Amino acid sequence: MSDQNTNKAAAGGLKVREAAVRALMAITLKKRPFDAALDTITDTANLNARDRAFVLNLLMLCLRRYGSLKALLASLLERGLPRNATWTEAALITGLAQILLMRTADYAAVNETVTLIKNLPGKENGFAGLVNAILRRASREQDELLVKLNATPGKDLPTWVFDNWTEAYGERTAIAIASTLQHTPSLDISLRADADPKEWAKKLDATILPTGSLRREVGDVTAFEGYDDGLWWVQDCAAAIPATLFGDIKGKTVLDLCSAPGGKTMQLASQGANVISIDRSAPRLKRLSENLARTNLTADVVVSDAAKFRTVKKVDHILLDAPCSATGTLRRNPDVIWTKTQADVDKLANLQARLLDHAFDLLPVGGTLVYCVCSLETQEGIEQIRSFLDHVTNAARLPITPDEVGGLATLITDDGDLLCLPSDPALEGGMDGFFAARIVKN
Ligand SMILES: C[S@@+](CC[C@H](N)C(=O)[O-])C[C@H]1O[C@@H](n2cnc3c(N)ncnc32)[C@H](O)[C@@H]1O
Repeated sequence: MSDQNTNKAAAGGLKVREAAVRALMAITLKKRPFDAALDTITDTANLNARDRAFVLNLLMLCLRRYGSLKALLASLLERGLPRNATWTEAALITGLAQILLMRTADYAAVNETVTLIKNLPGKENGFAGLVNAILRRASREQDELLVKLNATPGKDLPTWVFDNWTEAYGERTAIAIASTLQHTPSLDISLRADADPKEWAKKLDATILPTGSLRREVGDVTAFEGYDDGLWWVQDCAAAIPATLFGDIKGKTVLDLCSAPGGKTMQLASQGANVISIDRSAPRLKRLSENLARTNLTADVVVSDAAKFRTVKKVDHILLDAPCSATGTLRRNPDVIWTKTQADVDKLANLQARLLDHAFDLLPVGGTLVYCVCSLETQEGIEQIRSFLDHVTNAARLPITPDEVGGLATLITDDGDLLCLPSDPALEGGMDGFFAARIVKN
């Protein structure tokens, strides 16, 4: 069902709107993970698949544009809201998102949001009149308010993120990255190495990107040709680059540390490597095993802490896709930046440093280690690698070259690391933020 139809179909649901407000509060105030909040709240409200799709769509919009929606709301409120008016604020944000971004039938967005507030126990039901006034104004002034909402993309990021990116990449790029949040990202697909890209681009109505991934419009992937046969999987084109940086790995043993849900394990196995796939999360490894089964690929799957893992097997290369703040995936997971803080980045950077040291310890002389993170924080990428190379004397960077990334020279830093920025104009439709460095052991 198209987004528009989903919106119309669920436009009459009071309990649907209540679920969206509850989920928004759970994610932004209680810092609950997106999937867990959505599942628990939509299950408790007993929503059917169509209503759940509406809540998911609305939540994604609210979170992508959270900062701007809050700023717009502040400008519409003469005196602001009391700090504890959390339901009212979340309801107003979901109401504004429906009216300005979803263009849902205005009467439903206004009336049901007002009813939701009126039905609240306690003092917040006194704000029903204010909610009514603001949402009616939003309906009347839809076009002007949308221009205002879109005018300051930097507001869509928490201040600490915007400041980090401004310092690292300059203010103009930080704003350009923030602007990518105003668009729904396209669907990128990785093909098994034995599938013909031209044939599958045609079958999937996709284009072939210079880096080799396919790109098409979003849709129900399980209904696309080749899904059941496991000839491809969904993977952002930037995330698909690191596993291609080992050269010919046919018959080699590659250790994929931090591997679940398995996008990169599937790439490595598909290139003919014997993959040992490690992750400390058993439920995530279960998803990895399901993905391997669907794509008819194999790997040794081991639940283990990558900081302690040892093997008697001879390993040739190592991929370390380290746990990170994931700020590079904000287009696809807009909740992430609102549930993390700078303190989390500091903690993760320490963990990555430990994992990197241990991974290098496991690497044989002459072997290649690819370190990567889907983060735009320099602490987790550029600075992490600099400090590693500073203290490990037998490690050397093997620079990545533009021809290894489809000739897209802007993706390579002066040092020879991969740095994908979501706003890079080299690829129409952008890509996730990603960092990768290739290191050899002397
Ligand atoms: C960025 S995700 C990996 C994505 C995966 N490489 C892919 O391509 O699908 C990071 C993974 O690291 C795992 N992880 C976090 N800390 C870990 C540790 N100490 N040891 C092993 N795995 C860990 C998480 O469970 C998560 O699955």
